[in-house]
Amino acid sequence: MITKTANASESKLRQPPTAPGLPLIGNAIRFMTSKGLPLEFMNEAAARYGDIVRFKVGNQSIYLVSAPDLVHEILVKRVNEFHKAPIGLETSKGLGRFLGTGILTADHEEWRPQRKLIQPLMHTQHIASYADTMAHFGQKLVDLWGDSAVRDIHADMMQVTMWIIAETMFGADVTHTPALAAADHDAQAITVADVQSPLPGFMTHGRDRQAVEVKKVLTDVVQRFMDERRAQGNQDRSDLLSLLMETRDEDGNPVSDEYVRNNILTLFLAGHETTANTLTWVFRYLDQNPDMLAKLQQEVDGVLAGRLPTFSDLPSLPYTLMVIKETMRIEPTVATFPRFIGVDTAVGDYRLEANSVIFISPYVLHHDPRFWSQPEKFDPEHFSAENEPNIPKYAYLPFGGGPRVCIGNHFALMEAQILLAVIVSRYSLHLAADKVVEPVRLITSSPEGGLPMRLERRHS
Ligand code: HEM
Repeated sequence: MITKTANASESKLRQPPTAPGLPLIGNAIRFMTSKGLPLEFMNEAAARYGDIVRFKVGNQSIYLVSAPDLVHEILVKRVNEFHKAPIGLETSKGLGRFLGTGILTADHEEWRPQRKLIQPLMHTQHIASYADTMAHFGQKLVDLWGDSAVRDIHADMMQVTMWIIAETMFGADVTHTPALAAADHDAQAITVADVQSPLPGFMTHGRDRQAVEVKKVLTDVVQRFMDERRAQGNQDRSDLLSLLMETRDEDGNPVSDEYVRNNILTLFLAGHETTANTLTWVFRYLDQNPDMLAKLQQEVDGVLAGRLPTFSDLPSLPYTLMVIKETMRIEPTVATFPRFIGVDTAVGDYRLEANSVIFISPYVLHHDPRFWSQPEKFDPEHFSAENEPNIPKYAYLPFGGGPRVCIGNHFALMEAQILLAVIVSRYSLHLAADKVVEPVRLITSSPEGGLPMRLERRHS
């Protein structure tokens, strides 16, 4: 039986085109040999075959949906029919291995109370109070740079965003440990491998074993946050950690440590690396476009005249925000995100088979010439006050969409705007001479091997 579709009666349904591949294995080689997601391949397939194209990876069907109205159908109109985690494997494969059924990975009924609990912390009035912390840590980073010649900007952005998320959400002081960064990277690689090379269970023992080790590193950090808070005895701070630790179930009993841990880990991971990668790409594009860097610095100097930005300065820094939004268009850090279907269904007038994966790809949508003039060109003017209103809905979704839209979207934009303003007011950054920049697209996209940049100090 096919579940109802919003647009078509069953008799009109058709099969989506399948990207040509090899007998038996289909497109497996493209997916399994790529360092992350094969985005260029997916992009070409979307351009060639249209709104939905099917890839086969062995027996697994992956449908890439790249029409805004169909994306809207999945993320908004029929949100309850599509699952966030592989069906039946919710906590043993994909992100669920690491995050359990926390807010990012839980489905429908289990997700709703978690979103309701955390949402108030992300309201504009609340996040406004984080602006000074963000500026403070931006200052701390540039103080640390001093007269350095070359820095790995990706590592530095990871560090500063980690300081900020730990302080604002958990009142915790963290220093960026290589073990944590490595665990984070491995967790993403394992998750992507789970989705795009779904081998039978007996072939994934190595991956399963590695996942257990990675989870331990991540869990230990989070447990430390909880232990420190309990030791302090004051659980009445109004941050996420207190909120989670004080949560009660319907019977008034404290929720399990695991529930608390899953959500701390989710917010900790989702809340820093995404913004760090976005800023990393910002500096890459600004170096390639010196006129845009000059325009940005002129705006920032004009508004701030050397002081730190505050929440009330943000509306006066529109070009800063345009640069960030354009970076999230051309290199969206969450380049593709999946949904899972357990039963035969249809989207638009296309049939989709049970037990498949749907890919929604901001990257593919953001590079579609139907919606963007010169999509391969970095151009912040796409987001000028004049042009932004003309972007079709659901053609730009760096933060996803519908009820599951990123809960941290305002936090992230504010953080990126503040950090960018602090940094470019003090330094101009240029790519180190011998570096070739290759993106690795796991769950989030970052430059392979980091981004070494030469620092040029501005006014002292
Ligand atoms: C530039 C930065 C960021 C980007 C590009 C980004 C992107 C995304 C995307 C695309 C989704 C939806 C995934 C899906 O529908 O499957 C998402 C969800 C989420 N993000 Fe972000 N994010 C960013 C920053 C943040 C920050 C700063 C936080 C926390 C402070 C955060 C926390 C979350 C959470 C908890 C969810 C799950 C929401 C739910 O399902 O209810 N993100 N993010």
